[in-house]
Amino acid sequence: MLSVENVRKTYHKGGLFSRKTTAVLKDVSFDMRRGECLGIIGESGSGKSTLSRLILGIEKPSSGQVLYDGRNVMDPAVRRGKVSAVFQDYTSSFNPNYTVYEAIIEPLIMMERRTRSSLSARAVSLLTQVGLDGSYLEKYPHELSGGEAQRVCIARAVSTTPELLVLDEVVSSIDVSIQVQILDLFYALKNEMDMSYIFITHDIQAAAYLCDRVLFFYDGSIVEESPVTELYNVRNEYAKKLLGSVILA
Ligand SMILES: Nc1ncnc2c1ncn2[C@@H]1O[C@H](COP(=O)(O)OP(=O)(O)OP(=O)(O)O)[C@@H](O)[C@H]1O
Ligand SMILES: [Mg+2]
Repeated sequence: MLSVENVRKTYHKGGLFSRKTTAVLKDVSFDMRRGECLGIIGESGSGKSTLSRLILGIEKPSSGQVLYDGRNVMDPAVRRGKVSAVFQDYTSSFNPNYTVYEAIIEPLIMMERRTRSSLSARAVSLLTQVGLDGSYLEKYPHELSGGEAQRVCIARAVSTTPELLVLDEVVSSIDVSIQVQILDLFYALKNEMDMSYIFITHDIQAAAYLCDRVLFFYDGSIVEESPVTELYNVRNEYAKKLLGSVILA
């Protein structure tokens, strides 16, 4: 369903007129099949969020390409209604003038051409799934904690049941008790709706809980790939180090 082919991304370094560039992604390639949950694990600055922006067609690779069902994701028609995301920086993905209700139903109105009032039961049920209740519907983003705002973004992203959902550090800011509930929600949606996920995280335990396969990312490259059931077999030193720290913890 998704093919990332020899993707490189470089950014200018040291101001607009500088000729210096740094490679943030270096020849990244992988495939993902429908219904799969693919974890991407890597330390801060390794290029994970950059990769998610390229997969979402928000930015263009410097070279290489990202294909969804064989078509380039830079074409918005390829992604529409099929690919959705919850970003790491949820504050920027939530319009400050919208109530929780308006934020959650906006994609549904656009997709299904439903009227606003016909969707309140749906909005409450989505909120319940992310561990919030109907009393949140009329709140504005500034009245929410970080974890609550993140959960509203998750409710919004799953509302239209996209085929592929890119989740960039979505559970890190949420209480551990609610984290499990949200991971269970993703797991249920995956089975019920045949949804696929790219689950970006530095939390290897969360990845192991949800994912079928993980890619280890280091300094802009994939250094190891492993099915979750075979994580004990990884050979790369960096991947071993990450796994070791979990076993010790
Ligand atoms: N628009 C940009 N212009 C210049 N450099 C950028 C840009 N976006 C990202 N970078 C650089 O690319 C590198 C990778 O950033 P990225 O956000 O993809 O990392 P990450 O793996 O998501 O990290 P984190 O775990 O902290 O979220 C960083 O060194 C960052 O400074
Ligand atoms: Mg990031």
